[in-house]
Amino acid sequence: MATPTPQAPAAGGYDATAKWLHWLVFVLVFAQFVVSILMPAMRRGTVPGPLINLHFSLGVLIFVVVALRWLRRLRRPVDLSMPDSAPWERLSAGMTHTLLYALLLAGPLLGWAAASARDFPVTPFKLFSLPYLVPAGTRAGFTAGDVHSFLMWTLLALIGLHSAAALYHHYFRHDGVLRRMLPSRSAGRASR
Ligand code: HEM
Ligand code: HEM
Repeated sequence: MATPTPQAPAAGGYDATAKWLHWLVFVLVFAQFVVSILMPAMRRGTVPGPLINLHFSLGVLIFVVVALRWLRRLRRPVDLSMPDSAPWERLSAGMTHTLLYALLLAGPLLGWAAASARDFPVTPFKLFSLPYLVPAGTRAGFTAGDVHSFLMWTLLALIGLHSAAALYHHYFRHDGVLRRMLPSRSAGRASR
């Protein structure tokens, strides 16, 4: 059997898998916010219906995909030099990326604790059951729910900022920052 050769990162940027994972997370998170807006508020006596269960399932899936992406990112550092950008811009881009990862990993755990406190079973896509993270009725679990909701709306604002920055680079700075997250053919066109 041929030994698999490690996939080298695309010169000065993300490889195809990293790009796929980025846009997969985008689609999943977009769907999750649509579900979050449509699902009924969770109060005392709420019986979790299909939308609430979908919220849990998508949330667990997002956690898994982001964790894989984060681990992969740690193992494959990418050269993201932006010669035309000021140090504060590079710093804020790096901080935003770290914060996006942190919120996407901590958020689902807090949501899981909140679901446990509310005595809601978490059975992602009805495939398996997750154990309770905290016992039902735990005060800390309810607090986790408040923190979860607050952090997830903050995440949405941060995603807005991140997307606006990417579009600003593309349309006003005319540099390759957005293209390096797009399929390689567009990246190729950028260098011509
Ligand atoms: C990145 C993934 C997730 C996002 C973006 C997200 C987003 C949100 C948002 C925006 C709300 C507030 C809804 C409102 O204001 O009415 C919310 C509430 C909630 N979410 Fe999530 N969520 C995620 C993952 C999860 C997971 C994995 C679980 C459970 C396994 C979960 C359980 C809950 C619960 C129980 C609430 C109600 C909180 C409370 O008031 O106690 N979420 N979520
Ligand atoms: C759910 C929405 C999104 C999330 C959670 C997200 C998250 C991230 C993260 C964590 C990174 C850093 C990648 C890494 O180094 O591993 C990144 C990079 C990037 N994202 Fe997003 N992103 C989202 C949506 C978008 C959108 C809508 C755009 C474009 C309009 C975009 C454009 C980019 C670009 C161009 C980069 C590369 C930046 C660079 O090379 O410095 N992202 N994104």
